Amino acid sequence: MPKPHILITRRLPSSVLARLEAVCEIDLHTGDLAIPSDDLLARVRGKQALMCLLTDRVDEATLEAGRDLRIVANVAVGYDNIDVAAARRRGIVVTNTPDVLTDAVAEFTWGLILSVTRRIPEGERLLRRGEWRGWALDFMLGSELRGKQLGIVGMGRIGMAVASRAPAFGMSVAHSTTEPVDPASYAGAVPLPPIRPMPLDELLASSDVVTLHVPLTPATRHLIDRKALARMKRSAYLVNTARGPVVDEEALAWALGEHLIAGAALDVYEQEPEVHPGLSAFENVVLAPHLGSATTETRTAMADLAARNVIAVLKGKPPLTPVPFS
Ligand code: DGY
Repeated sequence: MPKPHILITRRLPSSVLARLEAVCEIDLHTGDLAIPSDDLLARVRGKQALMCLLTDRVDEATLEAGRDLRIVANVAVGYDNIDVAAARRRGIVVTNTPDVLTDAVAEFTWGLILSVTRRIPEGERLLRRGEWRGWALDFMLGSELRGKQLGIVGMGRIGMAVASRAPAFGMSVAHSTTEPVDPASYAGAVPLPPIRPMPLDELLASSDVVTLHVPLTPATRHLIDRKALARMKRSAYLVNTARGPVVDEEALAWALGEHLIAGAALDVYEQEPEVHPGLSAFENVVLAPHLGSATTETRTAMADLAARNVIAVLKGKPPLTPVPFS
C-alpha cells in the first residue's frame, strides 16, 4: 500500500523525522525562514497530513488547496494561526502540543519577571557599552518580589505552572480568567499556592507584576489596551509570554512614555518578527525573541507529540491532543 504524504514546514529533530519516515512520504521545507505562503499552497496539494508551526497561516485557502488533508498538526500549544472552524467543517483533525511545554514557558516567564524587576538586561547593556563606573549604593536599583502580588491573567496549565513557582519568591497570587479553572489539568511537581480570583480590573489595579497567559481569541485581542494599562500601579510590571496581539503595543508604548507602569517584559509581538519601534526605545522594557518554549528538551517533545498525532490519525486512530472546539 502506498504511504500517505506529509508536508512538514520546518526542519525537525532527526529522531522525529525518522519516526515519520517509517509511515509517510515526507516533503520537508528546509529553509531557515517560514515557508512562503504560495509555496505552502502549492506543496500542501495531495498531502494527507500537514505539520506546521505557529508562523504558518493555515486558512480557508490552505485547507482548500489541501483538500486531501486528514490532519493539521501544529507544533505549538497556541493555534490561532489555524482556522479551526474551517478545518472542522472539512473533517480535518487539528492538534496542538499542550503539557510538554508548560514548564519551559513557566520558567521563562519567571526569567522575564526577574530580568525586568532587577534590570538585568539593562545592566548588561550598560556594562558592554563600558559605562560601569563601579559599585554605588544607589546604582540601578530594582524592585523586590517578596511580599508583592503576582496577577495572572489566564489560569490554564501555563498560568498554573507560573503560579506554583510564586511562593519561592514570597509572592501572593491573584488570577483573572474567563475560562473555568481546572486544577486537575495541573500536573506540576509543586503544589499550587492559594490563588485569589478577581475581576480583571481589580487584578490590574492591585498587582505588582501582571503576567499574561491567555490564548489569542477575538475576546483577548488587545485585552491590555490603554484603559487596562492606565489601571495598573505606576510601580507595576507587565509580562507577556502568551501572544503578541493580546497587548496593544501602541498603547503599551504610550503607557511607558507616560510612566504609567514601571516596565514590561515581552516574548511575543503583534507583528512578529517586527518589534514596535516605540518599545525598543525604552531601557525598562525587556525584549525576547519568542523563546518561551525554546529548550532542547521541550522543542523535541513538541515535535515528537505533533508527529505522534499525525501517525495516530493516519493509522485511523484518535489524535492524542486534538484542539478543543467551541
Ligand atoms: C506555543 O507553543 O504556542 C508557543 O508560543 C511556542 O513557543
